[in-house]
Amino acid sequence: MIDRDEILANLERYDLSKAKIGVVASHSALDTCDGATSEGFHTVAVCQKGRERTFANYFRTQRDPAGNVVRGVVDEPMILDRFKDILNPDIQEKLIRDNVLFIPNRSFVSYCGIDAVEDDFKVPMVGSRNLLRSEERGDERDYYWILEKAGLPFPKKVAMPEDIDGLTVIKVHHKQKKLERGFFTAKSYEQFQQKSQELIEQGVIEADFLSSARMEQYIIGPVFNLDFFYSPLEEKGERIELLGIDWRFESSLDGFCRLPGKQQVELENDGILPEYTVCGHNSATLRESLLDKAFEMAEKYVKAAEKYYAPGIIGPFCLQTCVDKDLNFYIYDVAPRIGGGTNVHMAVGHPYGNALWRREMSTGRRLAMEVRRAIEQERVEEIIT
Ligand SMILES: Nc1ncnc2c1ncn2[C@@H]1O[C@H](COP(=O)(O)OP(=O)(O)OP(=O)(O)O)[C@@H](O)[C@H]1O
Ligand SMILES: [Mg+2]
Repeated sequence: MIDRDEILANLERYDLSKAKIGVVASHSALDTCDGATSEGFHTVAVCQKGRERTFANYFRTQRDPAGNVVRGVVDEPMILDRFKDILNPDIQEKLIRDNVLFIPNRSFVSYCGIDAVEDDFKVPMVGSRNLLRSEERGDERDYYWILEKAGLPFPKKVAMPEDIDGLTVIKVHHKQKKLERGFFTAKSYEQFQQKSQELIEQGVIEADFLSSARMEQYIIGPVFNLDFFYSPLEEKGERIELLGIDWRFESSLDGFCRLPGKQQVELENDGILPEYTVCGHNSATLRESLLDKAFEMAEKYVKAAEKYYAPGIIGPFCLQTCVDKDLNFYIYDVAPRIGGGTNVHMAVGHPYGNALWRREMSTGRRLAMEVRRAIEQERVEEIIT
C-alpha cells in the first residue's frame, strides 16, 4: 500500500481553490461528472481511445464566457490508448498538477488492477483505497469476510458441488467476456454437473471454473442495490445517508423472464441458459418497514469497515441485496465505492436523496458536495486516501 505521507505530500501541492473532479470514463462516470458540475467543479474524464465519444463528444461541457455551464458535464476528456495508462507517471503528474481529486469506480480498479491501485496510483483519491480490495471475491479478507465479522446476513455458502441441496447460484467468471459473469444455477449435484458441462462446451465458462467459483444459496426475491453514503465530515446529523436504490437489467436473464414459462423450459432443454450480464438499471423504493433494517445493515457495515479496514468507508458504498419471502435481507455483494447503478438518479436525484437534502441529490452530487465541504472546512485530508 502506498504510503499515506506520499499521498498527503501530493495533496500539499494542490491549489484546492482550483480543484477538479477526475474519474475513469466508464461505469458511473456520468453521474460523478454531472454531480461535480452541479456543485461547481470542472471535470476530467479519463477515456480509452475508441470508447471516448460519450464523454468527449456527446456529454462534452460548453460554458459561457462567465464560465457557467450551458451544456454537458465533461470539461476535459483525457484520451489514453488504454485505461491503465492512467498509471503512467507523466499522466499521474498531470492529474496532480491540475489539482484533480480522483473518484475511484469499479472500472478504474478492473482496468488498472487492484495491486497498482494500492501501490502505484499516487493521485489523492476520494474514498477508501484499502477497502477496494474487499471486492476481489476469494481474497482472504473479501467482503464476505467483512459481512461475517459485522454479523450481517448473506446467502449461505455452499462449499462443494456435492453439497448442493436446494437452489444454488454458482458464480464464475465468463470465459470470453473477461469482466463479465458466467453465473448459473443448479438445485442438485446432478444438475450442477449437467449445466456446468453444457456451459464448458459452449465456451461460456472455463473447464477448471470450480477453483475460483463462489457457490451460495440462491435467494428467491427482488434485488435492491442500496446506494448509501457515509460522511466523515458530518457533525450534527447522522453520518449514514440512503441516497437511492437501484436494480439491474441483466441479459439474457431479463429476456427469459419475459417469455412464457413453457418456452423458458424449452430453451433450457436446448441447453440455452440465461446469462447475467448487467446492461442497465432502474430505480426502486423499499416498503417503509424495511428501511430500519436497511439502515441497521449500513451501520454494521460501516462499523466493521472502520474496525478492520481503517479508516473505513468514506463516501458512497452500495449494499447489493435480495429480500426473501419473509422480508429478510441477504447481502450478496458490497461495493465500497460509488455503485454501478447510480446513473438512475443522475441529475434528477432519487426520492430518498432528495427528501434528505431538499433538492436533487444523486450519488455523484453528494460526492462533490462532500469534496466542497471538505475544501471549505480545510478537511480534505479526511476524505482522501
Ligand atoms: N445469492 C443470490 N441469490 C439470488 N440472486 C443473486 C445472488 N447473488 C447474485 N444474484 C444475482 O446475480 C446478479 C449479479 O450478482 P453479483 O453482484 O454477485 O455479481 P458481480 O460479479 O459482483 O457483478 P457486479 O460486479 O456487476 O456487481 C445480481 O444482480 C443478482 O440478481
Ligand atoms: Mg455485484
